[in-house]
Amino acid sequence: MKSIHISLLSLLSFSLLLPVLSGPLSDTYTPTDSILLDCGSSADGTDADHRKWAADDSSKFRPSGNSTTAPAAFQDPSLLSPVPYMTARIFTSESTYKFAVSDKDHHWIRLHFYPSTYNSLNPEDAYFSVTASGGITLLHNFSAHVTAQALTQAYIVKEFSIPPSSDGALSLTFAPSTEHPNSYAFVNGIEIISMPDVYVEPATLVGFSDSTVDVGESALEVMYRLNVGGQYIPASNDSGLSRTWYDDSPYIYGAGFGISFAAEKKVQIKYPSDDSKYIAPIDVYRTARSMGPDNAVNKNYNLTWVFQVDGNFTYVVRLHFCEIQLDKVNQRVFDIFVNNQTATAAADVLAWTSEKGVPTYKDYAVAVAGGAGDKQLWVALHPSVESQPEYYDSILNGLEIFKLSNAGNLAGPNPEPSPLSMAQREQDREFQKDSLSKSSMIGGAAGGAAAIGLLAAFCFVVYRHKKRIDGGGSAGGSGWLPLYGNSHTSTISGKSCASSHLSTMAAGLCRHFSFAEIKQGTKNFDESLVIGVGGFGKVYKGVIDGGMKVAIKRSNPSSEQGVNEFQTEIEMLSKLRHKHLVSLIGYCEDDGEMILVYDYMAHGTLREHLYKSNKPPLSWKQRLEICIGSARGLHYLHTGAKYPIIHRDVKTTNILLDEKWVAKVSDFGLSKTGPMMNQTHVSTVVKGSFGYLDPEYFRRQQLTDKSDVYSFGVVLFEVLCARPALNPSLPRDQVSLADWALHCKKKGFLEDIIDPVLKGKIDPECLKKFADTAEKCLSDQGVDRPTMGDVLWNLEFALQLQEHNEEGKPMSTGIVVDSNSVTSGGSFDGRNPNESIGGRSGASDDSDGLTDSVVFSQLINPTGR
Ligand SMILES: *[C@@H]1O[C@H](CO)[C@@H](O)[C@H](O)[C@H]1NC(C)=O
Ligand SMILES: *[C@@H]1O[C@H](CO)[C@@H](O)[C@H](O)[C@H]1NC(C)=O
Ligand SMILES: *[C@@H]1O[C@H](CO)[C@@H](O)[C@H](O)[C@H]1NC(C)=O
Ligand SMILES: *[C@@H]1O[C@H](CO)[C@@H](O)[C@H](O)[C@H]1NC(C)=O
Ligand SMILES: *[C@@H]1O[C@H](CO)[C@@H](O)[C@H](O)[C@H]1NC(C)=O
Ligand SMILES: *[C@@H]1O[C@H](CO)[C@@H](O)[C@H](O)[C@H]1NC(C)=O
Repeated sequence: MKSIHISLLSLLSFSLLLPVLSGPLSDTYTPTDSILLDCGSSADGTDADHRKWAADDSSKFRPSGNSTTAPAAFQDPSLLSPVPYMTARIFTSESTYKFAVSDKDHHWIRLHFYPSTYNSLNPEDAYFSVTASGGITLLHNFSAHVTAQALTQAYIVKEFSIPPSSDGALSLTFAPSTEHPNSYAFVNGIEIISMPDVYVEPATLVGFSDSTVDVGESALEVMYRLNVGGQYIPASNDSGLSRTWYDDSPYIYGAGFGISFAAEKKVQIKYPSDDSKYIAPIDVYRTARSMGPDNAVNKNYNLTWVFQVDGNFTYVVRLHFCEIQLDKVNQRVFDIFVNNQTATAAADVLAWTSEKGVPTYKDYAVAVAGGAGDKQLWVALHPSVESQPEYYDSILNGLEIFKLSNAGNLAGPNPEPSPLSMAQREQDREFQKDSLSKSSMIGGAAGGAAAIGLLAAFCFVVYRHKKRIDGGGSAGGSGWLPLYGNSHTSTISGKSCASSHLSTMAAGLCRHFSFAEIKQGTKNFDESLVIGVGGFGKVYKGVIDGGMKVAIKRSNPSSEQGVNEFQTEIEMLSKLRHKHLVSLIGYCEDDGEMILVYDYMAHGTLREHLYKSNKPPLSWKQRLEICIGSARGLHYLHTGAKYPIIHRDVKTTNILLDEKWVAKVSDFGLSKTGPMMNQTHVSTVVKGSFGYLDPEYFRRQQLTDKSDVYSFGVVLFEVLCARPALNPSLPRDQVSLADWALHCKKKGFLEDIIDPVLKGKIDPECLKKFADTAEKCLSDQGVDRPTMGDVLWNLEFALQLQEHNEEGKPMSTGIVVDSNSVTSGGSFDGRNPNESIGGRSGASDDSDGLTDSVVFSQLINPTGR
């Protein structure tokens, strides 16, 4: 009673204090000018963020010159709302929008482009330039179609900031390119919004101790704006400034993800001054990414982000910091590198702010030289060992990158046609060829892979996503591999380059193979031994040590999978050992080869034992055991390793079965590679295969361990119903298994869609438990989904129900078990799953050594061990 009292009181005082301290209303910036134009529309509208857009057909905003309006022919499913994208203004000759604005403010200009068919014009013909008053070229020879294709986005948002104009007139001129026949210009939405002076301080030029670069007088293009360690913040949540902040994880280099965390409730974010509260919203500072708890690990890696930018421009990198965990100076001290140069040595956020919870930021300017094409911008943090801080760690809360205008120009070239979409087409062909010629030869595995590949390709065409970058410059370089994460453009610089950098630990944990051994083991890469193909190259079935069967993945030398990534993969995989994860046995990097050797899984993929093959069907108990094993593997990934690892591509083709039918999760960690700016997201889309993809991720671009839980829910239904996650040949409402199964379950006829061979073989209580669990996994919101530990617990329980009822035994008396107890998000029945099954299985790989009855009694009585 007492404790309830206290918490109620503190809650009360907390909520009373809150408005006084952070005063959400007074913190909202009110822009002098806020013009949102829904171009080509004749009626005002509201977007998904409840922002109001005015029709540009009114006399007030109608542009000069010849233009027409048109609706888009097709609404891409990734458009968050029809406004402003479903109408466009089309310009066949030079036309100018004129706006009267305040002459004191900087202004944001955001241009929205949705390259669709308007008035039967070919979207590929639209090449144009956009010039702002003051002669600032924002875009030149711009093709929204090419850009969207390359970024695999449905629409493009370009964000600029321009300095005040003396006469308070702001104009935007759209001019079709004269170099292309039939060229026209178009725009779907224009935002003109005055902004507080948040980007005016000169930025330190990295590498030149006391040079600065003037920012305030310059026009800028916003390239990236990330809420590091946090989630997507929509424009409507940015204290009136209408900036959008995206998740940073796609830009993280390699597998060194560090850990993301949020401030505890009691930590107040205190802006140092009134002006500073518009620098970034509280939500940016409340979350952060740090390196992790292990000094030894942190000492050996850089927390690194990589961004794709246009060459021949100067960029300003703004790093937002706020210490939300520690209290003292010299606890967390780190070096900041921008493009491999030291930007600040021995940075200590608390020394800068002198207090926990106080935000600050640093601006660094860096010139990216070279031609106009694709360049990379690296930002890295490393513990400052010389400073001997208490923890070897670093922290970052937010990151923005702006391009500065160069001689009045901000326009870069159109990105190269996406290597990804080309690879996709390539792969598509390869898979088709494969499934025709090889399926009989190598059996279901490749067939399954081909089907999934085709499915992914199909979905890839249908759905193109809203991307997480703000417009972005250009697509990534030459990496082309959609299947297993992305590669870097770094080329392989010959032999032994990888091993010399491999940590001794990784080198000690897994074995080095000579190329001769590999060649011998695969009969010189005999095509008949191929068991999988992807953008990365091929997977062969092989033999080593005169008899041990292995799977050998050989990266296509032309795929340019970076040496760094290869190393990261080895380092990471060699440390992950679990009965329910496919193990890495060794690697070979002779002669510039990048070859990984894994356990061979005799029974192939789970999928080929469910449908679309002529294998004998699995019994229900076998299926349950396979689900339990995979749940264990995933639970280990989420909680058992040093850092939580999100698989990102849980599906029945990534669950493999060894000769004893033990389920092993494969392809984990591989997806954690590649920060190729414009492709990681996509690779996630292709990888995070459609039909399995977390809808919340779809909406928010935030990937969490609960995204894996969602995908696993689909796997559970797939196992139960023996049909693909997506089957485009079915009637519309049945295409998606997740939707269809949930629908059937709600209506109470789930029994009708389960695998016919299972009819009458599943104990009803077990079925209910299993289906309830799967349903919970498919909850729309991540927070409502159980953890992998909960899922594991429930599946164990379902298996017990099946076994006990099969044996005709009544459930042990005196034990109260609520079989509907899939709780949301948290643990079960008030029990922490980590104390019972989940934790143990996460921590060791011999958890299957226990007999089922022991497990069961522990489930019922977790303290009785
Ligand atoms: C508008 O179009 C007409 C005919 O299509 C052309 O004669 C005229 O010059 C155009 N006006 C402008 C301002 O380009
Ligand atoms: C935006 O703000 C509202 C109200 O403060 C909050 O309920 C919502 O969760 C926020 N949305 C995001 C994505 O942060
Ligand atoms: C920074 O160093 C890495 C290797 O450590 C290299 O791959 C990358 O290209 C460098 N970046 C720049 C911008 O020089
Ligand atoms: C971190 O990055 C800096 C700058 O590129 C580099 O000099 C250093 O070797 C890197 N450290 C590690 C451990 O990778
Ligand atoms: C870099 O930009 C300047 C100014 O826009 C231009 O004159 C120059 O030709 C560009 N250099 C390259 C290599 O593209
Ligand atoms: C315009 O863009 C297209 C597509 O990126 C490119 O092929 C063409 O060379 C560009 N033209 C000029 C003049 O830059």
